[in-house]
Amino acid sequence: MRSTTSELQQSRGVIEHYREYLPVSASTPIVSLGEGNTPLIYCAQLSKRVGRDCKVFVKNEGVNPTGSFKDRGMTMAVSKAMERGAKALICASTGNTSASAAAYAARAGISCLVILPAGKIATGKLLQAFAYGAKIIAIDGNFDDALRVVRELGEGHEFVIVNSINPDRIAGQKTAAFEVVDILGNAPDFHLLPVGNAGNITAYWEGYREYERHQRSTRLPAMVGFQAAGAAPIFYNRTIEKPETLASAIRIGNPASWKQACAAIAESRGAIDIVSDAEILAAQSWLAKHEGIFIEPASAAAIAGLFKCCDSDEAAYSFQKIPEASRIVCTVTGHGLKNPDPILARMKELKPVAANVKDVRRAIGL
Ligand code: F0G
Repeated sequence: MRSTTSELQQSRGVIEHYREYLPVSASTPIVSLGEGNTPLIYCAQLSKRVGRDCKVFVKNEGVNPTGSFKDRGMTMAVSKAMERGAKALICASTGNTSASAAAYAARAGISCLVILPAGKIATGKLLQAFAYGAKIIAIDGNFDDALRVVRELGEGHEFVIVNSINPDRIAGQKTAAFEVVDILGNAPDFHLLPVGNAGNITAYWEGYREYERHQRSTRLPAMVGFQAAGAAPIFYNRTIEKPETLASAIRIGNPASWKQACAAIAESRGAIDIVSDAEILAAQSWLAKHEGIFIEPASAAAIAGLFKCCDSDEAAYSFQKIPEASRIVCTVTGHGLKNPDPILARMKELKPVAANVKDVRRAIGL
């Protein structure tokens, strides 16, 4: 699909916006759904939790076209795949990559095969892959097994792999760091985010460094990543054979960008830490109720992580002694509606009352 400039002006997308920093040329066919330019939201309640006059911002990636940050990388990966004459895409996924790949493949008019761990994909994400018309294969295994299968299938020439092992994905995702700097006027002091396959922490760090090299910023943030306690290979420094967490998006035991993530953490003088499922659910609920931002559980790992940095002596990174007026950005990676399952149970408490003011007043407790 080749778009004209006037069409693209309706919704520019990250490639048009950051063209000079991306490996595209005038002949690259741009496959875009108007991704990126997501809100960087100042959060007064979160800032109060941190104290010391610090300012906390949430980068809400859930408002991308398919509801997650993956769209930034997918517009690049699919555009470059089309440039090279691809006929079909393939990916392994915990849900969001497959939703995004399926959408961008549909947009490009090519087929998409997704390999998923059976029974482990959040309802909304699986629904998206079906809606966008992907071919879906569920395997008896976890994400790491699915990625192994995809790597093997990708060795032939039938498929282009659009997981983050494809460098075009990382190139697209680094635009999120550019946006943060463009809004704040400089890099923040700290950047917190969830870590699964470790592509995103790699991409942000690349983006921050690149912008600094181009003198668009004068400093670099400390990158602080959070894994779910039951799926924390980087934190424990060993492969986890059977990763477990209700944050299914980051249920990964052998991340593809493990080395790059370690480099980002070391070079930025950041840290990797863990948060429990209970902390993740509490943070998800807290952010919805105190800041009006509804995110999926994996994304809440960043917020749970922020709380841990503030409150716990055991945190790998303690915020108790950070300089006053530090600026902290937390990336929340996916929309809450994608994964309704943990909240559905609570909705069952809703019982109808008669349709009159008297009964409604009684139900309210007036
Ligand atoms: N948050 C969400 C909502 C995700 O879907 C993912 C990864 C991450 C965080 C972690 O990002 O892998 O770059 O470290 N989801 C992938 C997928 C694995 O298949 O959708 P990462």
